[in-house]
Amino acid sequence: MLGGAPGEPVQPEVRKFCSAMLKKNVNLAVEDENAPIIYVVTPTYRRPEMVAELTRLGQTLTMVQRIHWIVAEDSATCSAPIASLLQRLGLPYTHLASPMPDVYRKERYVPRGVSNRRAALQWVRENGENKGVLFFLDDDNAVDIRLFEEMRSTEIVSMWPVGLIGDYTVSSPVVKDGKVIGFYDGWPAGRKFQVDMAGFAVGVGYLKKQKKATMPYIAGHEEDGFLKSLNLSLKNIEVKADGCTNILVWHTRTAKNPSRTLKLDNHQNDNIKTLTDNMRVMGMIK
Ligand code: UGA
Ligand code: MN
Repeated sequence: MLGGAPGEPVQPEVRKFCSAMLKKNVNLAVEDENAPIIYVVTPTYRRPEMVAELTRLGQTLTMVQRIHWIVAEDSATCSAPIASLLQRLGLPYTHLASPMPDVYRKERYVPRGVSNRRAALQWVRENGENKGVLFFLDDDNAVDIRLFEEMRSTEIVSMWPVGLIGDYTVSSPVVKDGKVIGFYDGWPAGRKFQVDMAGFAVGVGYLKKQKKATMPYIAGHEEDGFLKSLNLSLKNIEVKADGCTNILVWHTRTAKNPSRTLKLDNHQNDNIKTLTDNMRVMGMIK
């Protein structure tokens, strides 16, 4: 139902499946067929940095075994450079598109990456293996591949610190005697779960059992809303990264580049013409 609960969509959502590959075709030597698959959900949107971000992140993921990368574009259609990147990488992947409904785009604080993450959530519910693990990884973050082996054993929800975020330069669960007792985060904002999107993973079997699991269209409260909808209590949280003492993922942010229109009058007969045509295909210039 539209607008049924706070944060639930007040306009219809559009979801498009573009392509997928299930078999891995890169770094095959280390694969353990019994290891749980980690479904890495990356929301992205068209801007000059998009191809650079996804190339960097995708190449990191090729170093990890038993990964399925769900790239979900905030757009009505899937973009060609991302489709060809995904084919080239050799990772198992699914390429989706789901644009943010217009009504949210006009808000003062825009709920970034929610429509596309929700589309990916639906995909994981319908296609994910029960012993698998769901992890949201924004396209601009930096991740140490050891984090994936930490989260691979997640049954309900696991958590760890995220570096380079907020007033404290870190956001982390507070752990005592091996249990989460609260959160250390520079932006409490009345949140029960004061964590960043990259600070937790969810067991797919558990997710499927939580019929009301949803990510709300509420800027800044996407993580808290999602975790609350999972019916989670602090005592169920699995503590990772050496009792939440190590940083294995960073909330890095890339400086924005304006999308420019270039003057090419003097370069119709040299490489600059082809170069800039290729940049246009990548969405780097207009
Ligand atoms: C922080 C959190 O890390 C995000 O997970 C959270 O969604 C966001 O705040 C929020 O509360 O709105 P931040 O670095 O501020 O992230 O946001 P971005 O990196 O700009 O966007 C988060 C993700 O959504 C990125 O993967 C980005 O590509 C994607 N996004 C952003 C869209 O899909 N559409 C947009 O219009 C903007
Ligand atoms: Mn970001």
